[in-house]
Amino acid sequence: MINEAFQKIFGARPIVTARAPGRVNLIGEHTDYNDGFVLPAAIDRTIEFAARPRNDNVIYTYSTNFRDHVEFRLDAIEKDEAHPWSNYLRGVLKFLQESGYRLTGADIVFGGNVPREAGLSSSAAVEVGAVVLAMKLFQIELEPMEVVRLARRAENEFVKVPCGVMDQFACAMGKSDQALFLDCRDLSYRYVPLSPRVKLVVCYSGLRRALAASEYGIRLKQCRQAVAQLGTTGLAVKSLREIDLTDLEVASYSLSEILLKRARHVVSENDRVLKAVKDLEKDDLESFGTLMIASHESLRDDYEVSCRELDVLVDLALRHPGVLGARMTGAGFGGCTVNLVRADTAEPFAEAIKEGYNKATGLNAEVYVCKASDGALTST
Ligand code: GLA
Repeated sequence: MINEAFQKIFGARPIVTARAPGRVNLIGEHTDYNDGFVLPAAIDRTIEFAARPRNDNVIYTYSTNFRDHVEFRLDAIEKDEAHPWSNYLRGVLKFLQESGYRLTGADIVFGGNVPREAGLSSSAAVEVGAVVLAMKLFQIELEPMEVVRLARRAENEFVKVPCGVMDQFACAMGKSDQALFLDCRDLSYRYVPLSPRVKLVVCYSGLRRALAASEYGIRLKQCRQAVAQLGTTGLAVKSLREIDLTDLEVASYSLSEILLKRARHVVSENDRVLKAVKDLEKDDLESFGTLMIASHESLRDDYEVSCRELDVLVDLALRHPGVLGARMTGAGFGGCTVNLVRADTAEPFAEAIKEGYNKATGLNAEVYVCKASDGALTST
């Protein structure tokens, strides 16, 4: 598809191609920027790139999703409010140059089927895919962790979204049929096989994550504040990752009610991720599902990042006999839920959700039965 789009625009075949998938997080939400644990998987929805080099320092790029193009010079990369879809690419190219790599220009076409602003990391897919594309176009060699860091830097420092490392890591390093257990403190990771008995079913509420940006920043600050205040009790902690629920209880007098709730979510969620990994490893999917449900409740009641539509999707899911677990996934305030569903009931589950959701909210849900897939750096 992307090669055809390139051919149509430039009348020639592309010289290089690249791809990066979106991701879904199974458990471990709002823990990554607290140095905590996450368990995402890359999914079989991707952003594809096709390109050829130029030697006039110009980038001409076309987005198949936005049906829009823009041209910019490599020696004057600025954020472009009129073509925001191009900023992920701009950020990546800017920071590659700042790291000392010489780029000469390119014609680039990109786009794919990761839904936008749905909480499935289409932006991380563009960033990671853009780094891989640039490596191929300009013969640059980077270690996998350099790719992840550069992609995240584009998001944090150029697009100015203060996200953690999970999304870029998962898009780069996911593995087919596996979940990725990542420790966001030191980026150590291992793969955990997903049983073929279950399917990952993602339900998109149809709500773009409208409030997510501002509320995300507020949660991040609240976590920092909680750490600072816990420090006044003699707990020497750099992040919420370093304490358990008992520590939190003992030191809870130092926190306002709201900071205690935020901290309790993060601390309990880290604990759930560790348990969830063990459950997957012993193929105890029922117990894994129970942890997903507890995660949703904690995100809804303590972290307060869910919304009515996501709660409706989770409630509907839990009424379905084939469901082992259901929770909101990603930043919250819209976006998607992730559901662990017995493989043979995935299709009827999808139908039941669409119907029930429409009845309850008047909105249309999109349901994606996903397969854990290779990341941009791990595909063979
Ligand atoms: C967004 C961010 C991630 C992570 C999740 C919440 O997806 O980009 O870094 O913080 O929210 O878990």
